[in-house]
Amino acid sequence: MQEALQKPTETEETRNLRVDVWRGGKDGAFATYTVPWRENQTVLDVVTEIQRHHEPALAYRFACRVGVCGSCAMTVNGVPRWTCRTHVRRVAGDGHITIEPLRNMPVIKDLACDMSEFFDKWQKAGGRFEGAKTRNEAPAAVNPTSKKRRNADRGIECINCGICYAACDVVSWNDDYLGPAALNRAWTLMNDERHTAQRETLRKVSEAGGCGACHTQGSCMKHCPIGISPTESIAGLRRMTLLDFLGVR
Ligand code: SF4
Ligand code: SF4
Ligand code: FES
Repeated sequence: MQEALQKPTETEETRNLRVDVWRGGKDGAFATYTVPWRENQTVLDVVTEIQRHHEPALAYRFACRVGVCGSCAMTVNGVPRWTCRTHVRRVAGDGHITIEPLRNMPVIKDLACDMSEFFDKWQKAGGRFEGAKTRNEAPAAVNPTSKKRRNADRGIECINCGICYAACDVVSWNDDYLGPAALNRAWTLMNDERHTAQRETLRKVSEAGGCGACHTQGSCMKHCPIGISPTESIAGLRRMTLLDFLGVR
């Protein structure tokens, strides 16, 4: 979630920042750059400054710069964050920041990681919407106040940034674990009455590596930049799985 920002002091505006940036692949190393510390500067602005003025070959991702696309996530001072909405003054109290690629995904180069497995797991969790209507029919009406719609309400805002996945301890030691984002997606589909493959989605999230593997410690929820709680979504899937097993769903 966005935290309250404090106006920088004049001293901060004239100081330099020391920035340690991960360079290379898995066996790379940190390189240190010095850049001006400007007012209202985001961590993504700092990365861009380094790429433009110090290291043209620096690899990193971004698109929207306004917290919509989810592509700019990196590890900043050891914490996964969306860099376009993370102001430097919130993370660089001592004038120093460390920027690395997201964890739990292979590093391609510098700050760019390979998110293939993260997205493959959405498929493995049955996260693809299957509808019954054709384009020639009227769209299905969903009651905005129904319990199911309210269950899905927050989860559908996911921007696929991978921050929760990078923050999850279970993902780091269990390669089969589907992870918080894919399970959150499955939860939204299980509450979408238009989704016709619910039985298949529930089967997939009930298998090994599914919702039962979550340790419910909430690291995903703590770091999600838009306040989604995959922990609650996963708890919902566990309830559904149990009720289905008991034949009362
Ligand atoms: S609550 Fe579950 S999904 Fe979230 S970080 Fe913990 S183990 Fe991972
Ligand atoms: S649940 Fe939150 S942290 Fe995870 S991918 Fe979606 S927006 Fe990012
Ligand atoms: S660049 Fe799109 S969310 Fe940061």
